[in-house]
Amino acid sequence: MSTSKVKVKLSDRSYDILIGSGLIVDSGRLIKASLPNASRLVVITNDEINKLYGRNLKTSLKEAGFDFAIVTVPAGERYKSLTSANKLYGKLLNFGADRETVIVALGGGVIGDLAGFVAATYMRGIPLVQIPTTLLAQVDSSVGGKTAVNHRLAKNIIGAFYQPQLVIIDPETLRTLSARELRTGLGEVVKYAFISGDPLFEKVKSVLPLTDNISDLVPIIIDCCRFKADVVGEDEHDLGRRAILNYGHTIGHALEAVAGYRQYNHGEAISVGMMGAALVARAKGWLSEDEVQDFKALAGAAGLPLTMKNIDPDKVLEHLKHDKKRTKGSDNFVLLKGRGKPVVSSVDPRVIKETLRCLT
Ligand code: NAD
Ligand code: GLY
Repeated sequence: MSTSKVKVKLSDRSYDILIGSGLIVDSGRLIKASLPNASRLVVITNDEINKLYGRNLKTSLKEAGFDFAIVTVPAGERYKSLTSANKLYGKLLNFGADRETVIVALGGGVIGDLAGFVAATYMRGIPLVQIPTTLLAQVDSSVGGKTAVNHRLAKNIIGAFYQPQLVIIDPETLRTLSARELRTGLGEVVKYAFISGDPLFEKVKSVLPLTDNISDLVPIIIDCCRFKADVVGEDEHDLGRRAILNYGHTIGHALEAVAGYRQYNHGEAISVGMMGAALVARAKGWLSEDEVQDFKALAGAAGLPLTMKNIDPDKVLEHLKHDKKRTKGSDNFVLLKGRGKPVVSSVDPRVIKETLRCLT
């Protein structure tokens, strides 16, 4: 089995992202090689993922000689909460976790964000390893150190920048993912295709619509991780260039919230958001009609939505205004001046209103 390595180079240290089919069964050895002093681990996962991958991970950790516990939370975004974090702190204390104990996050973005937050805050920070099992987590959320839990009033509002020591990506885990969860990951993949430029765009285009052959995705996962590693290395704390990773997210986040986080999952909502951003860029004369059509074709081939169904555009607009207040009035639209040329730009409120109307 071949393993690819992508390095995330931060100002004070670096860490590896290892990508290869079947890596879960080798994860004990890989963790030992990256964290030679580690002997005790707590794996945080959910019940669904534990049933699928817990046994393989357990065998591998035993073989590597680790003393470990596997703790689970129920599956679902609503468990990405301070309540869950608090229960996990209790489990860590019962295990006798100290500052050398490693947290291993086995799961999608919900588990990665929650376990990452717990690792960042328990004893003011203990080592973290991410083993992402959804496409969204493999191309985006497990890399870059954004950890968070939700508040009743706002998603991802309580969190910390806290980088893992190692990310282990086993694309084989994508075989058990539902078609919808695979699609939400493709939303992020399409985002990378447009913000990074033609080479990735062509690669993604060549594998969509997806066949059952998950291995088609491996070079794409590697490229997405490379691109994200580069951006995070340059702007770890999201003060500048990292904003480009939020392409499609301004309208996307508002749509997710207005639709109550049910009708649209994250990737679906950002697909609609990228459609909105493409329309705004076309109105500014930055994207050609052909480039807008390229986006529609790629998102369509991924099975992603391009419009908001049964959603009042005025409610989305209200949400955007509310968000703008929270970010102290900053103009946070990421737009393209051509494929691979993302910029952060202000947008005339009348154009936003008209764009939202066009998306219905
Ligand atoms: P998720 O973590 O909720 O996983 C989706 C579902 O798939 C869950 O039911 C999970 O149990 C199941 N699952 C996971 N892996 C599986 C597998 N291999 N086989 C079968 N089922 C599996 O969803 P997600 O889309 O991975 O993550 C969404 C979360 O990520 C959101 O909370 C979002 O805020 C966060 N996020 C974080 C960042 C970041 O930079 N930290 C970036 C994007 C999104
Ligand atoms: N997912 C956006 C970021 O990591 O900045």
